Amino acid sequence: MNLTLDSLHQTQGELTTAIDDEQWLARFDALAEQGYVLIENFLPHAEVAALYHYAAGLSEPEWNMAGIGREQQHTLNTRVRSDQIRWLHPQVPAEAIYLNTMDTLRVRLNRRLFMGLFDYECHLARYQPGAFYKKHLDAFKGRSNRVLTTVFYLNPEWQHEDGGELIIYGANDEVLETVLPQQNTLVVFLSDTFVHEVKTAHRERFSITGWFRHNASNAHRVDPPR
Ligand code: OGA
Ligand code: MN
Repeated sequence: MNLTLDSLHQTQGELTTAIDDEQWLARFDALAEQGYVLIENFLPHAEVAALYHYAAGLSEPEWNMAGIGREQQHTLNTRVRSDQIRWLHPQVPAEAIYLNTMDTLRVRLNRRLFMGLFDYECHLARYQPGAFYKKHLDAFKGRSNRVLTTVFYLNPEWQHEDGGELIIYGANDEVLETVLPQQNTLVVFLSDTFVHEVKTAHRERFSITGWFRHNASNAHRVDPPR
C-alpha cells in the first residue's frame, strides 16, 4: 500500500486533532499490528475541555442507566455495569463536533487500512463513584457489526487513586494495558478481540465510547436498530 499524505488530505474536511499526519500514520500502523492503539493528546485542548464541561453540566434526566445488549436482548444488569449513558446525536451542536471528527477518522482508517467502516455510533458515559464495568467483549465474532471500539476520556487531572482504569486483556487473560482515564486520551481496539473492563471509579468519570461499524443491512432488516 502506498498512501501519500496528500491523498490523506483529500478526505472531506481536515482532521482537527492535536496530532499531525505523520503521527497518525504511525498510530494506524500500530493499530494494524497490535489490534489496538492508545493515543494521547487526541483533540485540541479547547475542544476536549468543552466536551468535559458539556458532559459535567448535563442534568440528571439527560442520563440513562446503561444496559447490556441491544434491542430485545437489552437488559439492565447492574452487577455487570453500573454506568449511565447518553447517545450522541448530530443535531446537538456540542455533540456534532465530536461526531464529525470521528467521521473524518473513519474515512482515514478506511483509506489507510481498508477497513470498510460504514458508520459510527457513540455515547457519553458517566461512572459515578462506585460504578464499574466488568470484563466483557463489545462484539462477538460474526454476530455484531461493531468492528472498532473507541474510548475517549474527558476528566482533567485524573489520579491513580481515582481508580476507574480501563484494563485491556490479551488472548491468555494477561493484562496488556492499564489505561488511566486521563483527559484527551483515545483508545482504539478491535471490538471482537479484546476483553476489557473498567475498574471501580472513585471519582465521577466521563468518557465517550463509540463503535465504527460495518453495514449489516439486508432486504429484511435495516441496520442499525436503535
Ligand atoms: C464500554 C467500555 C470503557 C471505558 O462502554 O463498552 O468498555 O473505559 N468502556 O469507559
Ligand atoms: Mn466495552
